[in-house]
Amino acid sequence: MTRRGTKVETVLLQVVTLVLLACAPSARGALPSDNVSVQWNRLFQQLFCTGNGLRFEPSILLAHLNLAQWHALEALKQTGTCTTEEAVVAYASYTVMVNYFPFSSETDIDPLLASQIKGLSKTQKKLAKSLGEAVAKRLIETRQPIKEFLLEDIHDALAARGGDRPGLWGYIPNTPHNPTAPLVTHYYNLEQTFILPDPTEFVEDYLGNLKPPKVPSAEWDASYASLVDVGRIDWPGRTRAMNFTASLYACPKVNVTYNESGCTTDLFWIQAALNALPATTSLYDAVTLLAKMSVALHETQIIIMTMKDGFYFWRPALAFRTGDAHHAPIPNWTPYAYTFFDPEFPSGVVGVTSAGATVLQSFFGEDKMVAFTVGGNGVFGPTCPGSAGQVIPPRHYGSIPAAIDEAILGRIYSGAHYNSSTRDGEIVGKTVAKYVLQHWGKRTPSGVLPDTEYLDVFVKLPTKQQEFVPVHYEV
Ligand SMILES: *[C@@H]1O[C@H](CO)[C@@H](O)[C@H](O)[C@H]1NC(C)=O
Ligand SMILES: *[C@@H]1O[C@H](CO)[C@@H](O)[C@H](O)[C@H]1NC(C)=O
Ligand SMILES: *[C@@H]1O[C@H](CO)[C@@H](O)[C@H](O)[C@H]1NC(C)=O
Ligand SMILES: *[C@@H]1O[C@H](CO)[C@@H](O)[C@H](O)[C@H]1NC(C)=O
Ligand SMILES: *[C@@H]1O[C@H](CO)[C@@H](O)[C@H](O)[C@H]1NC(C)=O
Repeated sequence: MTRRGTKVETVLLQVVTLVLLACAPSARGALPSDNVSVQWNRLFQQLFCTGNGLRFEPSILLAHLNLAQWHALEALKQTGTCTTEEAVVAYASYTVMVNYFPFSSETDIDPLLASQIKGLSKTQKKLAKSLGEAVAKRLIETRQPIKEFLLEDIHDALAARGGDRPGLWGYIPNTPHNPTAPLVTHYYNLEQTFILPDPTEFVEDYLGNLKPPKVPSAEWDASYASLVDVGRIDWPGRTRAMNFTASLYACPKVNVTYNESGCTTDLFWIQAALNALPATTSLYDAVTLLAKMSVALHETQIIIMTMKDGFYFWRPALAFRTGDAHHAPIPNWTPYAYTFFDPEFPSGVVGVTSAGATVLQSFFGEDKMVAFTVGGNGVFGPTCPGSAGQVIPPRHYGSIPAAIDEAILGRIYSGAHYNSSTRDGEIVGKTVAKYVLQHWGKRTPSGVLPDTEYLDVFVKLPTKQQEFVPVHYEV
């Protein structure tokens, strides 16, 4: 009895082994120990950060790369196609990368693919290619990034509003922030979300209690006081450490090796994830984490921009120079570093940081203390006010929340944000990331945009403070 059982099992085992051999792992050993997903993310950083391709906002490109990898693995699971996980991820990534970085195709992208599929049989390559390419193309085709055609409408709406209003965003006289300055970031509002419902509804339903302070009010007095000294370039109390923290979040860097540290807040978190993941993580788990993270970072940008444009709160330099009912003007108030030219509330850098942190923390569990390091190669550029020429060593964090604290201080010390707006930015990122995690895989990302040629944009600016008047568009 026992003997016969054993025999059957042995035979079964042999059959199973044969099937597995035919269907999968022969190529595994041929792949580099550094896995495919990681290699494509590093190459993405390098090409994006050195400007060797589409220098568009990274979060949509990054979401495409990591979602394509995830969809490829899901498709492989569903279809049971006889090829390898690594190979479908390689072809999906390749398709996205060639689309966005066509000039690096021969020098960087083709060779990486070639090294990853070495050792695969012809059939395995063919199957992996058709599967990986298909999922990547579907993503790209429905989700082309769109142009900044909205800016003109915002300039017009500002001109029509006429004059400054206390508490509302506007041009800063006698600075580069005048009507000819390039406005930034507002095109995010026109990108569709992958997982979140309509951004305006999301803000109203999940973040309705967040608002910039009323001017004048005791709450505004507190925001004002939180920044008027520490954010200003010539405040005598600035320490070298404060300057350094501000510079991390505000200064251009040179001589950076971008395969180890990204050039944007999004990429900081991708890098953090790559470095924090335990070596035993499966390819599927790593890809899923990176996909969730990229999507959360992308959705957070959209929500932040929707709020910024909806509330139109004034930037510190405008507020302090203009003054208000409780504060005399300080005509020469200058922030430590150049401030993005868009409305202030809430902080985008902190929002994105908090989203990345929330997704990474969720991988390990809420209470786990996770230390990590992000490569910090490079040097602060010559225009960096307090830290020019200083080397940026690798940055070590004792925990994931420690990186949020650093970002908050960085944005305050650089004079870009009031304390209250950084704290609200943290809430925004956390709320969006949690929504993405809870709804992952439940809604098929659609993301088909209306044709921008036929799009009408309506920009109406708030005329009263704390009003939420989102930019509106329709076909
Ligand atoms: C900034 O806000 C946090 C949270 O509201 C508060 O605990 C902290 O004291 C504030 N710091 C300053 C300098 O206003
Ligand atoms: C950057 O690297 C170049 C070439 O190695 C070197 O000449 C230059 O001094 C470096 N710049 C800084 C600011 O370190
Ligand atoms: C990044 O590139 C440098 C220089 O080419 C190399 O020495 C280093 O090992 C690379 N790091 C990673 C993580 O690939
Ligand atoms: C892929 O890379 C991640 C991050 O470095 C690592 O944790 C994981 O073990 C790698 N997986 C495979 C299958 O190589
Ligand atoms: C901090 O930066 C400011 C602005 O460039 C500079 O004037 C000041 O000397 C720096 N402080 C320290 C301690 O390095």
